[in-house]
Amino acid sequence: MNADDLKKLAAARALELVGPGMRLGLGTGSTAKHFVDLLGAKVASGFDVLCVATSEATQAQALSLGISMSTLDETPELDLTVDGADEIDPQLRLIKGGGAALLREKIVAAASARMIVIADDGKLVQKLGRFPLPVEVVPFGLEATRRAVAEAIAASGSAGELKLRQRADGTTLVTDGGHFILDARLGAIDRPELLAQALNMVPGVVEHGLFIGLAAGAVLAGADGLKLLGEIE
Ligand code: A5P
Repeated sequence: MNADDLKKLAAARALELVGPGMRLGLGTGSTAKHFVDLLGAKVASGFDVLCVATSEATQAQALSLGISMSTLDETPELDLTVDGADEIDPQLRLIKGGGAALLREKIVAAASARMIVIADDGKLVQKLGRFPLPVEVVPFGLEATRRAVAEAIAASGSAGELKLRQRADGTTLVTDGGHFILDARLGAIDRPELLAQALNMVPGVVEHGLFIGLAAGAVLAGADGLKLLGEIE
């Protein structure tokens, strides 16, 4: 099985958690895309759910599959969100935002009674930080915010280069919310809670990719089968 097959396997297992009439948060990224595809097939056969997307890309995919879509304004409380992650540690702390959707992903996850992560088991790490931590910032005052972010990182005991995320064509990436992303190459994050708090205090930081206390469980697919972390049923 290749990595994409594993992502699909994890998505299929998470679909078992979805009951009729549920209000669902739909994640973003290649793993969440499999989940939305599988959900779309179920909806096509008459299954009823109401969903909120975490990105414009997922919204478009879900609508193209005939899934009923809502917003957090109309449906501010969700039963379950299923989303991917860039890294997962054994305490279910996550790094997210590789797909630039971290702000909406965190808002949707926080509005959900449960968030379940789906991923291939290569995403499971003992310590977060090998994946660059996305920090979403407003364009105004970028250099001042970048310096304040670097200070917050240092104050929490981490260190590393901050890189403004670019698109493949060399232009600066702009998120669905109209913001930029600074990717912090930290290597290892010794104190994720402290770093999260420090980043939350920086004016100009809209959100960061540390998801702490949000995921209730994870479905991880590997060559040996499925590994379930936390509360899955
Ligand atoms: C999107 O912003 C991210 O948080 C994704 O959930 C994360 O990057 C995982 O994406 P893949 O499923 O494509 O690895």
